[in-house]
Amino acid sequence: MKFDTPAGTNPIDQLKVIGRPTDRIDGPRKTTGTAPYAYERHDVAPNQAYGYIVGSAVAKGRITSIDTAEAKVAPGVVAVVTTLDYPPLALGKNNIARLFGGADVNHYHQAVALVVAESFEQARAAAALIRVDYARKPGKFDLAREAPTAPLEGGGSGEGSGAPKIDRVGKFEQAFAAAPVTLDQTYTTPDESHAMMEPFATIASWQGDKLTLWTSNQMIKWSKGDVAKTLGIPEENVRLDSPYVGGGFGGKLFVRADAILAALGAKAASRPVKVAMTRPMMANNSTHRPATIQRVRLGATRDGRLTAIAHESTSGNLPDGKPETAVSQTKLMYAGANRMTLMRLATLDLPEGNAMRAPGEAPGLMVLEMAMDELAEKLGMDPVELRVINDTMEDPEKPGRAFSERHLVECLRTGAERFGWNKRNAKPAQVRDGRWLVGMGMAAGFRNNLLMKSAARVGVDAKGVVTVATDMTDIGTGTYTIIAQTAAETMGVPLDKVVVLLGDSSFPASAGSGGQWGANNSTAGVYAACMKLRADAARRLGMDPSTATFADGKVSDGKRSVALSKVAGLSAEDAIEYGDLDKRFQQSTFAAHFVEAAVDAYTGEVRVRRMLAVCDAGRILNPKSARSQVIGAMTMGVGGALTEELAVDTRFGFFVNHDLASYEVPVHADIPHQEVVFLDYPDAKSSPMKAKGVGELGLCGVGAAIANAVYNATGVRVRDYPITLDKHL
Ligand code: MOS
Repeated sequence: MKFDTPAGTNPIDQLKVIGRPTDRIDGPRKTTGTAPYAYERHDVAPNQAYGYIVGSAVAKGRITSIDTAEAKVAPGVVAVVTTLDYPPLALGKNNIARLFGGADVNHYHQAVALVVAESFEQARAAAALIRVDYARKPGKFDLAREAPTAPLEGGGSGEGSGAPKIDRVGKFEQAFAAAPVTLDQTYTTPDESHAMMEPFATIASWQGDKLTLWTSNQMIKWSKGDVAKTLGIPEENVRLDSPYVGGGFGGKLFVRADAILAALGAKAASRPVKVAMTRPMMANNSTHRPATIQRVRLGATRDGRLTAIAHESTSGNLPDGKPETAVSQTKLMYAGANRMTLMRLATLDLPEGNAMRAPGEAPGLMVLEMAMDELAEKLGMDPVELRVINDTMEDPEKPGRAFSERHLVECLRTGAERFGWNKRNAKPAQVRDGRWLVGMGMAAGFRNNLLMKSAARVGVDAKGVVTVATDMTDIGTGTYTIIAQTAAETMGVPLDKVVVLLGDSSFPASAGSGGQWGANNSTAGVYAACMKLRADAARRLGMDPSTATFADGKVSDGKRSVALSKVAGLSAEDAIEYGDLDKRFQQSTFAAHFVEAAVDAYTGEVRVRRMLAVCDAGRILNPKSARSQVIGAMTMGVGGALTEELAVDTRFGFFVNHDLASYEVPVHADIPHQEVVFLDYPDAKSSPMKAKGVGELGLCGVGAAIANAVYNATGVRVRDYPITLDKHL
């Protein structure tokens, strides 16, 4: 189904099932432990052996020898494979660091061997007996030291909206020099780790030259291609199955070492092998969000109109890596005639930097929205009003190009009203509650809404049960449920008459889960398949497809009403495709975040007391699962603002705090009452669902709202995230 013009009324608009706060259909399976995650799939292949990864002990260099003699004769050991047994394996389309093969070490904890044994403990014990000798080379590990002065040439892309090299509109330098009120500040954000609950995990089994991977992955189609490319086998010989994913946060967009090593281990052992990455290995073996150094310059008139906007971001990555696209939202947030954005990329020998939790916008808004708070103070203006008067209804860098929908001002106004923003004292460090200094802060939020092709197959059986199959994944987001709601609404059956099958690469290829594009695109693909099935069903029943109605498990044309089960066996496959819709309309989502924070006047401890997010993200398909997404994202915002930081050992080139004891993510006791308001304006230009992404939007801007609340509480401006207590004492 081609969707390239704004949607008229369609079956989704009935809102009998869509738009209702529906419990997760996979909830009982998850809460009773009967939804198996990758490592737990004991039944899919008999005689599974356990693999244990050995990671490099140096960050850069060459392996001169690997002695496996002792390990090979250790109790229970079935096979040992080392990186010297293979040539450097090809990179997947989306991998920056080589996952295995060859003597070169490019980053700390890069996989150098896999031990396969009868038990996990035996594999781990034998792994400790492997002796690896390295010729170590000096590496570059310090972003501030390696930061280049020249901007990046050519296109940086990343998975966000992608802002290549220098972009200019108007004359920034002149406008900034002439502006009566200006701000010029530099901010930093640290390296961060996904820290999802379920580690990278895969069970691999070969049937002749065909490989099956039961794995934990967000993007089945991409990853199937990457597995084939890395292993040098035809794509049709690879099957991935990932029906349940215990969190990905971007770490599982691409294939990691667990999948490749499980496949190589299974080959060497001639039996199925399962590999889970241990927690201490995840931060350095896989990917992370790269640290940034960002400079923002804003020039404004005395009444607060932005006349000059510049945002520069420097990040690092391995050779041939990509920058963190932290400037992308700045191209679209606010009006202003003279603008400049640029990115610089340092070559570092730290582990691969890649997509994590709203890449680009999350760290970009932590900075831009703190700068806006600082500008508001210089102007003596309310921070909400500053954002309101600089709102724009068209792409500020492409005049005439409208947003599909944009209700940022209503987010800001609604949020201010609901939060009691008028009670804020604009002068910092004025409000005391016992030993606590109390402040309020706010920030605007922004995240793009990417349109991507997505396919599904839908069929009906003799009981009138509708089964949907698509390789779409549910990474804890609620995909099973919104897909079931979509099929139920479109086919006119109750929710309990829908079966949803996900995550298998033998199903039609979906948009997958990433960049908050999953919900809108995958349901639109299911809608497309359902509409095709409706037409086929009507024709088979001798009805006019354009007027037949589907409701209460029946198909009717005004004269006859027939049970849907009468077309048992019928199935249809289709995909949603958008043409150039996203070129004609800028597709974005908007939010306003409000935070009340308290800072202990003596210890500097920060407690977030209240949080509110108002989201403008099209039609909300399921307010319950959407709210769950947003409060999870707001919680990540607390981590980003206050606790999360991978500490770099700049001598040896690794992340020191590579476990959940020392890489601190917020826990329940850190999180206050969180409120989420959805404006719920259907977006007829986003898809037939009129929905948009919302998950990552919940994170974008929160960090700055917290930082601004902390500043309002203390009067100390910390521009170096995370805001730990030592920085504002
Ligand atoms: Mo997201 S970082 O695209 O999974």
